[in-house]
Amino acid sequence: MLLPDRSAIVTGGAGLLGRGIVETFLREGASVVVVDRNVEGATALAERLGNAGLPRVAVVTGDVTDEAEVDRIVADAEAFFGPVNSVVSCAGQYANCAIVDMSVQEWDRIFALNARSTMLVGRAYARQWMERNVKGSIVNISSGAGRSARAGSAHYAASKAAVNMLTQVMAIEFGPYGIRVNAVAPSVVLDRVVIAGETEEHPYIDMMLQGTPLRRTGRPDDVANAVAFLASDQAAWMTGTLVDVSGGSHCGRTHVPLTTNSTFNPGR
Ligand SMILES: NC(=O)c1ccc[n+]([C@@H]2O[C@H](COP(=O)([O-])OP(=O)(O)OC[C@H]3O[C@@H](n4cnc5c(N)ncnc54)[C@H](O)[C@@H]3O)[C@@H](O)[C@H]2O)c1
Repeated sequence: MLLPDRSAIVTGGAGLLGRGIVETFLREGASVVVVDRNVEGATALAERLGNAGLPRVAVVTGDVTDEAEVDRIVADAEAFFGPVNSVVSCAGQYANCAIVDMSVQEWDRIFALNARSTMLVGRAYARQWMERNVKGSIVNISSGAGRSARAGSAHYAASKAAVNMLTQVMAIEFGPYGIRVNAVAPSVVLDRVVIAGETEEHPYIDMMLQGTPLRRTGRPDDVANAVAFLASDQAAWMTGTLVDVSGGSHCGRTHVPLTTNSTFNPGR
């Protein structure tokens, strides 16, 4: 097991990626507090996992964009499995809006959820861990969009670029206390895996998959496994890294084909 001595919180734990991370952490031996504003979703997840023989899971509901709420969440989380020593900041939201249509409210909403919440949660645990001499670890969920501009993503991509830089600044400031901070940048993960060529059902996704060398969307597990590794002692000398979990879609101009004809025939 990767995480036998970890007491974790996962913000956004009731969401698509959060659920995968919570389950993977439990299977790897951690106890987990699911932090989410979706009470029903978080409670249903904890029940389902408990029924599946993974009972070391609890729920704290709240809004991670709010400073006072984050302090309350941090205090409440400790009541379940003792002091938290592993944090995953996964609460966030994808958004798409042309800059010419962008309202200040929409801009601020996305930055508050994706960037501010990551700072507030990281700050709260850094303060606690520095005071208590806990060598904890933080994994922030960024996005491939944080390094790859596309139309409509001004607020989303910029907020994820902020998460990337925040991760590195945290790594520098917290590192001398033994606290590690890394980020994972997923590409598209949906409710089910979509393979390139399923054009009729998902034309936009298929276009994305033309630029994805592995030609499929991700599974929550693909992301969760990278998060668990970064949270574990296996990554003891890794901090300030951004791990792409993307099927290779982050590799530059992935949609540009060969301009010569290959003569190699793989025989299949
Ligand atoms: N799914 C993808 O394809 C994908 C790709 C790249 C990055 N990401 C990132 O992964 C993270 C999770 O995405 P997802 O697809 O699981 O989204 P999701 O919408 O399924 O889950 C997000 C969760 O966050 C919770 N949440 C939202 N606002 C909150 C708040 N203020 N306080 C507490 N909880 C709040 C929601 O209730 C929800 O359960 C996000 O940061 C997203 O940007 C997702």
